[in-house]
Amino acid sequence: MNILAVFLLLHLAQTILGQGADQRPNYVIFMADDLGIGDLGCYGNTTLRTPHIDSLAHDGVLLTQHIAAASLCTPSRAAFLTGRYPVRSGMASFSRIGVFLFTAGSGGLPTNETTFAKLLKGQGYSTALIGKWHLGLNCEASGDHCHHPANHGFDYFYGLPLTNMRNCKPNSGDIFVAGARRAVRAAVQLVTLALFTLLLLDYLALLTVPWRALGFVLLAAALLIGAVVLFLSQFRQLNCILMQNDKIIQQPFTFDSLTQRLTNQATSFMERNLGRPFLLFTSYLHVHTALHASQEFLGKSKHGLYGDSVEEMDWSVGEILASLERLNLSQRTLVYFTSDQGAHVEEISDEGEMHGGWNGIYKGGKATNWEGGIRVPGLLRWPGVLAAGKEIHGPTSNMDLFPTIAKLAGATMPSDRIIDGRDLMPLLRDEALWSEHEFLFHYCNGYLSAARWHPRNSSAVWKVHFFTPNFYPEGSQGCFDTHVCLCYGRDVSHHSPPLLYDLLGDPGETRPLTPASEPRHQRILEVISSAVEDHRRTLGPVPDQLSVGNLVWKPWLQPCCSSSWQLCHCDHREGGKSTPRDGDSPSQTPA
Ligand SMILES: *[C@@H]1O[C@H](CO)[C@@H](O)[C@H](O)[C@H]1NC(C)=O
Ligand SMILES: *[C@@H]1O[C@H](CO)[C@@H](O)[C@H](O)[C@H]1NC(C)=O
Repeated sequence: MNILAVFLLLHLAQTILGQGADQRPNYVIFMADDLGIGDLGCYGNTTLRTPHIDSLAHDGVLLTQHIAAASLCTPSRAAFLTGRYPVRSGMASFSRIGVFLFTAGSGGLPTNETTFAKLLKGQGYSTALIGKWHLGLNCEASGDHCHHPANHGFDYFYGLPLTNMRNCKPNSGDIFVAGARRAVRAAVQLVTLALFTLLLLDYLALLTVPWRALGFVLLAAALLIGAVVLFLSQFRQLNCILMQNDKIIQQPFTFDSLTQRLTNQATSFMERNLGRPFLLFTSYLHVHTALHASQEFLGKSKHGLYGDSVEEMDWSVGEILASLERLNLSQRTLVYFTSDQGAHVEEISDEGEMHGGWNGIYKGGKATNWEGGIRVPGLLRWPGVLAAGKEIHGPTSNMDLFPTIAKLAGATMPSDRIIDGRDLMPLLRDEALWSEHEFLFHYCNGYLSAARWHPRNSSAVWKVHFFTPNFYPEGSQGCFDTHVCLCYGRDVSHHSPPLLYDLLGDPGETRPLTPASEPRHQRILEVISSAVEDHRRTLGPVPDQLSVGNLVWKPWLQPCCSSSWQLCHCDHREGGKSTPRDGDSPSQTPA
């Protein structure tokens, strides 16, 4: 054997050993929907039982100022996956609804955006999304799946292309009724007034009304309204869909054992990937309405169906953590738990039961940039690498997961775009005192409504609001008339000078500072304004994914799983229609 051969053998051995000691962690990511920071035991709740989620804080790091990049599902999730403010990808709306409401809309996370799943896939990771997506499905034809998770780096998908909503569960209310009523009332008034005017003008011979043409217009309008009514009456069938990869497996999906199904899917994914690093993103339907919980959890919490739903989610987290342990993967896995935004405080059931969560001492909730809307749970556990029981109080963002994960996996960050997230590891490992975020910008849909400044080498955190939602009824903590706060027009108040808060001393944002109460008032506003200017200069025009054209229902994009007489209806679960419950029932439930 010559020297070269020995060298090659040594090199080979080193490569093999090196692989055996692959330091790259697996990732198990949990995202709750609309969970309030005040709902968890580890954030101070004493009556809801969340022992499994709390264990992450006990064994890992708890972030007390973890900020979602948006306070609504679609933009927040877009930012989370891409590490970028949602305006950069066109995933933040202007003057209209800020989330996708129909499966057959054409908007979605653009294909040229890079998710951390895509980066990890490129690094040899096996990747899965279990649960809610809400970032679009098709572009031009039903089944082109241009926005499907598979096109964004997820090898495996089991879940909802859209989202859970009240309309998905019979007798749980309807999110369109109030709006539809308002629209119909306005339309009837308008048409009546117009007809009367025309009749009068015709009678007075001031105008010859083309009655025939008018008749056609009215007929067309009636047909359009008919189509809308028909669509809404079939809403559940058309929009509440459960998919496995590119196949529809249940339409409409049912809630029976749904959390168990998702949990089992998560566990089997890990079992299938023992030999390679993986990313498992479990994106719960809990605790968005329609609230649901299986028999084992119904009526068990102290907080009605909402509490039952939180506790069922906690059980699921516990099952997945237990599987990690059983598979001997805990030490090699970075676990992260968060919520896409704060609790939806306006969510009250038709029976008057509180169906939204609790944001603790923080003001407002979902769809606002008060702390209650954007300050979310942030828990990270990686035994042996991250200290157990550590708390970090400085600002961090849900966009930070992108660079953190990418870097640990050895991926190169995309260099052709701005990434707004910052690597969390130096902070988590005590190598830095503060995260790199000096400023965070808070968008209400596509509008920058607030910003926070964390001056370097200081623990101060200043926050300004350029505009805030109008709470109604006045004195309440939410927008109860519109059910969700809006970001424009008559529903907001602009502030000049902007409202300024000292978050360190006043995290509940109850006492706006004045030049008299805070001598640096003027200076702080100037610093933040100029940061906002700088930030604005980094934004460029992008196609609006939430334009009217991209939001509306396009029948030709409608996913539909059957050609039988029962339109768009199927149940291809194992066991299917014949059994009311899945064969894959939970392995164990807590007492
Ligand atoms: C715990 O959460 C419930 C449900 O959201 C809430 O009603 C309650 O006020 C919270 N309790 C505490 C002590 O934060
Ligand atoms: C993606 O494509 C759109 C439309 O061409 C463009 O405006 C945007 O800048 C692109 N985004 C990235 C990250 O390249």
